Amino acid sequence: MSEQALHNKKIVLGVTGSIAAYKSADLVRRLREKGADVRVVMTKAACEFITPLTLQTLSGHPVAIELLDADQEAAMGHIKLARWADWILIAPATADTLARLASGRADDLLTALCSASESPLAIAPAMNNKMWQNEATQNNIRHLRSQSAQILGPASGDQACGEQGEGRLLEPNDIVEALARLVVPAQLQGKHVVITAGPTYEPIDPVRFIGNRSSGKMGFAMAVAAAEAGADVTLISGPVNLPTPTRVSRIDIETAQQMHDEVMAHVQGCDLFIACAAVADFRPQQFERNKIKKTKQEQLQLILTPTLDIVSAVTDGDKRPFVVGFAAETNAVEAYAKDKLKRKKLDMIAANQVGDGVGFAVNENELQVFWEAGSRILPMAPKKQLARDLMTLIIEQYNAKNTT
Ligand code: PMT
Repeated sequence: MSEQALHNKKIVLGVTGSIAAYKSADLVRRLREKGADVRVVMTKAACEFITPLTLQTLSGHPVAIELLDADQEAAMGHIKLARWADWILIAPATADTLARLASGRADDLLTALCSASESPLAIAPAMNNKMWQNEATQNNIRHLRSQSAQILGPASGDQACGEQGEGRLLEPNDIVEALARLVVPAQLQGKHVVITAGPTYEPIDPVRFIGNRSSGKMGFAMAVAAAEAGADVTLISGPVNLPTPTRVSRIDIETAQQMHDEVMAHVQGCDLFIACAAVADFRPQQFERNKIKKTKQEQLQLILTPTLDIVSAVTDGDKRPFVVGFAAETNAVEAYAKDKLKRKKLDMIAANQVGDGVGFAVNENELQVFWEAGSRILPMAPKKQLARDLMTLIIEQYNAKNTT
């Protein structure tokens, strides 16, 4: 975990109606000690357990409570807060809050804010152990996790109701540490990062192409993580069905040649190049101007010719940026990845197993990352979080290279 991870991060802290709400006072203090800017949003039930004045004094900002309050909306309304937040942290989160978030309710300020925000969400539940184990609560947790929400805790032990078990809010210090492990440090301000994503389509005739199973999810998640680190991001993407992330400048291409040309046009003077795209290694030598007709012949032979290796063109250039490649392998993942690291003169490579329903198109993945002097395994996680973990590692190695 980077000590600096929360420095300058804008955090909306949602406090809901649990006896553990008193701990949010300490939580605000500890987040601010780490350099975070904290705005507190309380549910009405939370105000029964701790006063808004306490959290206002500790955060240094007015506490927002009402959705339909003209004065509060005029100050920093829910849409502004939704855009402002780098992260939304809900601590404590009651069983009712989990249910409301999981079902997409938006009838109070906190849930409206969450539904209007693209910011990542971390939730620290707090409730009686039977409520935590309740099937409905567990279903809600699974659903929220599938939407990339990060669940922090809960802890086990004595409960306010006199029972023992799982359901206690994590201690404020543990929440801050867990959040710091998830956040990408804001250390790429003023840096330009170029990222490739998605597949390439290599046309055979006007209606057919050779493509691959890349959905672009990992490359787009890398672009979001780079933007969260404060970088100016150029995302060069093959044909995918994904919205453009905020604060990211996107260029759409179709073929490997077009991706090559756009990369070479944008990579000059950039600081980091991350090649996540699944670029075709071969393309049909000839493009048929008219649709190839089905004839009585039993076979159709296509002659394929190699495409340009984009990432190698970047590492062969003058004043090359810090270059991170990916390796998609069905077997011998480590050996092939290490070979590509060397052969393509990369600074780092993130390798993943693909095929049989893993790697491509799914929402979760795991990576083995290699660089000259080390390696790290990034365990199975939603691609959105995996990209943050990878970006944090890239920043570490980039800083190490640029300070030696
Ligand atoms: O898009 P998703 O569905 O989320 O899936 C993510 C992913 C599986 C596509 C991603 O995690 C991944 O592994 N991307 C790299 C896929 C790939 O093409 O790997 P490769 O081992 O064939 O290529 C090695 C490296 O060379 C890659 O960085 C690739 O971008 C680059 N390359 C390859 C061929 C080429 N002509 N030019 C290149 O620059």
